[in-house]
Amino acid sequence: MSTTSAQDRAGLLALAVEAAQEGGRVAAEGQSGIGVLDTKSSPTDVVTEMDRSVEELIRKRIHAVRPGDPVLGEEGGDEAGEGAVRWIVDPIDGTVNYLYGRGEWAVSIAAEVGGEVVAGAVAVPARGDLYTAVLGGGAFCNGEPVRAAAAVPLELALVATGFGYGSQRRAQQAEVLRTVLPRIRDIRRGGSAAVDLCELAQGRSNAYYERGLNPWDWGAAALIAQEAGARVGGLHGAPPNPDLIIAAAPELFAELHDLLAPLGADTDAPAAG
Ligand code: IPD
Repeated sequence: MSTTSAQDRAGLLALAVEAAQEGGRVAAEGQSGIGVLDTKSSPTDVVTEMDRSVEELIRKRIHAVRPGDPVLGEEGGDEAGEGAVRWIVDPIDGTVNYLYGRGEWAVSIAAEVGGEVVAGAVAVPARGDLYTAVLGGGAFCNGEPVRAAAAVPLELALVATGFGYGSQRRAQQAEVLRTVLPRIRDIRRGGSAAVDLCELAQGRSNAYYERGLNPWDWGAAALIAQEAGARVGGLHGAPPNPDLIIAAAPELFAELHDLLAPLGADTDAPAAG
């Protein structure tokens, strides 16, 4: 386990919470009337003015208290620093929901020490929910402890997932889903990976998997799911990574893992032609 003390982790969590709540307030106030500022990997991978300004605000808040800490953010990229804590920030996870005036979007902030996330906060402003965890300290929603659902057989599992922005990746994700869907209770596609993982942490789904996420999507929420009793990882014992993330109670994790691995859920479809 990390070299940070429980007190250190609590202090890092307090800063993550403060920054996530302030970012969430500002984003919620500006949601109506927001438009697309830019696009990234595809025309549907959008950035709003708010993604950028909320990330800047969060960076300022963190650096006001801990100048010199490195920050990795979805919009501003990697900012090096001499500090011992790396902050992993997604100013708005679920940007498409945000753009469409929907409520399933989150501000996510994780504090990582020595390559291990030790504190994480995910604010879901439209629902007034704040999910938190420190390493070894359990997971909470609005201060109340949360637990992931106990394992159920795969055929009874409600499974959340998401899709990438590129059509080639989506074609493969649809292929994988063609096999998965008849084998489970049902599928959910909420539109925010951070919210998906936090909902898993409170038993609102049984499992979650997705290809193509980045550390800012899962940073805080993977710790929350893990502290709620879920196993969170990639294929063949790997930690969560951009190829694939799977989360579920340990026995169900194993079943879902064994279904997904031979389907190439961690790969993209070959280019057509
Ligand atoms: C996206 C959301 C979505 C997931 C995508 C992510 P963004 O993050 O988490 O649920 O399916 O893969 O990129 O772009 O809204 O920050």
